[in-house]
Amino acid sequence: MDWGMKNRMSRIIQKDGHTVMLAVDHGYFMGPTTGLEDLGKMVKPLLPYADVLMPTRGGLRNYIPPDIDIPVCLRVSGGTSILNETNLLHEGITVDIEDAIRLNVAAIAFSILVGQPFERDTLLGMTEYIDEANRYGIPVLAVTAVGKGLGKDARYLSLASRMAAELGASIVKTYYCKDFEKVVETCPVPIVIAGGKKVPEKDALQMAYDAIQAGAIGVDMGRNIFQSTNPVAMIQSVNSIVHKKYKPKEAYMLFKSKK
Ligand code: 5RP
Repeated sequence: MDWGMKNRMSRIIQKDGHTVMLAVDHGYFMGPTTGLEDLGKMVKPLLPYADVLMPTRGGLRNYIPPDIDIPVCLRVSGGTSILNETNLLHEGITVDIEDAIRLNVAAIAFSILVGQPFERDTLLGMTEYIDEANRYGIPVLAVTAVGKGLGKDARYLSLASRMAAELGASIVKTYYCKDFEKVVETCPVPIVIAGGKKVPEKDALQMAYDAIQAGAIGVDMGRNIFQSTNPVAMIQSVNSIVHKKYKPKEAYMLFKSKK
């Protein structure tokens, strides 16, 4: 690993080995998602509790002031919308590496979908990008999803996560599931969990805790933070689990105390 890559990785993964990534890239396939209608206004008070921001390039350019002091993990895959269910996540490259560099990114995020007829396209799209990004010392975070019907199952999520790592991803983002330690143990690169659809705050905090206990290095969470009844309190509580070893109960008490 060269200096640039190491430097970027150390900006993403904090000295304690953990990270809180704030995902706000949803607009690339969901449009004006609830909570992100004014992305800039939502994100600003959350930044002090996030280690990394994960936006799209349009989200970054239009809503985030360039003088913020936070590493950016830029979403560079897309091409389908939430209205196109059969092709959802049949993603290709949406941002050229040159533009990613111009935006001074610390990492890039690329989605793969394993277990669909078009899996090959997403896997080759990601590897193409990994070759480009590695040339400039930029790590790639693989957002792994599995085909419809395969569910959130350790068998399939470990397959997709291991594949992403073997294909060259530096970090893997995947969903929390039962027996998650098996996903972590068989993946040679650090894993962060996605938040997924909004669930009650108590459950999201429990999930973050369980994921860390199972060996995840952190979270890359979106809707469960910005769609919370109190997004600032929620990210503070998530942060306390990831970085301060809070138990789910303590973190939930912190959440409630901020209301
Ligand atoms: C899609 C994504 C999302 O855009 C987002 O990053 C997911 O975050 P969350 O599930 O926590 O809302 O990764 O594949």
